[in-house]
Amino acid sequence: MSKSIIKIENVNKIYRVGKDLDVHALRNVNLEVKEGEILIIMGPSGSGKSTLLNIIGTLDKPTSGRVIIDGIDVTHLPEKELYDIRLRKIGFVFQFFNLISTLTALENVMLPMILLGELDKEEIEKKAKELLEVVGLGDKLYARPIQMSGGQQQRVAIARALANDPAIVLMDEPTGSVDIVSEAVILKLIQTLNKFFGVTFIIVTHNPEVSIIGHRIVYIRGGKLFETREIPRISIDNALDEKQIIRSQIEFLKRELIRLKNLREKGVLEADKYAESLSSIKRKLEKIKSVLSEDL
Ligand SMILES: Nc1ncnc2c1ncn2[C@@H]1O[C@H](COP(=O)(O)OP(=O)(O)OP(=O)(O)O)[C@@H](O)[C@H]1O
Ligand SMILES: [Mg+2]
Repeated sequence: MSKSIIKIENVNKIYRVGKDLDVHALRNVNLEVKEGEILIIMGPSGSGKSTLLNIIGTLDKPTSGRVIIDGIDVTHLPEKELYDIRLRKIGFVFQFFNLISTLTALENVMLPMILLGELDKEEIEKKAKELLEVVGLGDKLYARPIQMSGGQQQRVAIARALANDPAIVLMDEPTGSVDIVSEAVILKLIQTLNKFFGVTFIIVTHNPEVSIIGHRIVYIRGGKLFETREIPRISIDNALDEKQIIRSQIEFLKRELIRLKNLREKGVLEADKYAESLSSIKRKLEKIKSVLSEDL
């Protein structure tokens, strides 16, 4: 992995929610993402994950610090220039999909290509159909968001994010509402685009099965970012091979244990939260054990 495609330097984000009330959503965050990397961001609810993704995607500005995308300092760029950068370079899959309710699935996917204006109408329609086929929605081209399930809307959002062949794709819980088969399809799609097209992915997720496709995981807690060691890449070629999923789950839980221990030792994590997290890991391990013994 080579050049840096995203650089976040000393970023703070403070939301003013009342006259005397500030929410410090990001605290001195530093992060560098290499071109072709799959970065996973994990952390509890309210820890600042979506805020960070919005700032990386230039949808929001930091209160202080710098944001550099592909060598360009975008921190203070005017909206017109940011719009062009977003349209060409960045694909978004939002936590709540943000599809346009009056448009069909096909039209939602066509929209970024129409805005970019580089292909003619027929090519745009053809490409949008192909993208929807890839995410398994070839039969929902003319459905509007309200006529689709959460998981289907999520897959439309993924197809839309890929419409302009972005170099960077930002995904906020991309498998949050999908079933396990669609999840495997989405993970495979991410891996394929990454492997063959060098697309950089930044993925916010709570799901350990998603995190296994990452080259690196960072954690956010209370607006602070914690880097972890780079992890060896695990393949999901057999996305539905139970043994492999279980093995990586156990690996993940092991890493989680080490991470929690470190946080506890540094005093970042309170004793009760630590105990709570440990027992949740224990529950997960016991669940795995009981499923395995059923199989024997
Ligand atoms: N527009 C806003 N105005 C005020 N406060 C906000 C705003 N957006 C987020 N926050 C606050 O900033 C903090 C971080 O929010 P954020 O949405 O980034 O969390 P998150 O990690 O994405 O959580 P979740 O996992 O629930 O999606 C929270 O305390 C939230 O209430
Ligand atoms: Mg969020």
